[in-house]
Amino acid sequence: MEQLEKKWAEVDQYLADLLIPADPVLEQTLQENDKAGLPKIDVSPNLGKLLHLFARIQGAKRILEIGTLGGYSTTWLARALPADGKLISLELEPKHADVARANLERAGLSEKVEIRVGEALSSLELLKQEKQAPFDFIFIDADKPNNPHYLTWALQLSRLGSVIICDNVIRKGEITNPDTEDASVQGVQRFLERVEMEPRLTATAIQTVGSKGYDGFAILLITSEEEQRS
Ligand code: SAH
Ligand code: DHB
Ligand code: MG
Repeated sequence: MEQLEKKWAEVDQYLADLLIPADPVLEQTLQENDKAGLPKIDVSPNLGKLLHLFARIQGAKRILEIGTLGGYSTTWLARALPADGKLISLELEPKHADVARANLERAGLSEKVEIRVGEALSSLELLKQEKQAPFDFIFIDADKPNNPHYLTWALQLSRLGSVIICDNVIRKGEITNPDTEDASVQGVQRFLERVEMEPRLTATAIQTVGSKGYDGFAILLITSEEEQRS
């Protein structure tokens, strides 16, 4: 298993070296995060680029991110925006937000990106009150036990054709354990069950291996505005 994990990381590195041009801004973002003592739980470079591609393929102009950390995924996503695009990212920890703001400033993205500090659930309520919706693209990557609530909010803040991506939905395969006592795994399970029941959504989830081990993400498309099955 250890050997296999080494291989996954090696292939991730190979693909990133080959397909992602040297990027001093993103590299410095990771260095600054490290210096500030932030946990190394940013998306991998290859997943960051996949998020970027998804946002471009969709033509996203308004992006919402739940869980900023040091702004690594934020940078990948914000770079997918057109000149008049906007990204709002929600973060609980003031220190994370400070590091992210400095990184985004250096990336030349401050004009397009707004980071809001506080409990995401409160910030989401405020976004609704401020009529900031709809968002074209929503990336959920914060505290996993709240994933079912974030799904509820994502549905409220989106439109027909919006894309929702949720990170870390495989958790080393632990999601198949119905008796798990891990609140994060339970959050993912409830999230996926709600996705399945939700008539407005068409979705799938994909397992990934790589530099961050064995995990995965879910991708949801809003394909109907009908709230109830008739
Ligand atoms: N998207 C980032 C990684 C996010 S890590 C990237 O890939 O680069 C998860 C982040 O969610 C952490 O910074 C954590 O502080 C934040 N978070 C945790 N609970 C939260 C909450 N209740 N509201 C808002 N943010 C929260
Ligand atoms: C964790 C969170 C993440 O967003 C991630 O990508 C990896 C791990 C965590 O909380 O352990
Ligand atoms: Mg994540």
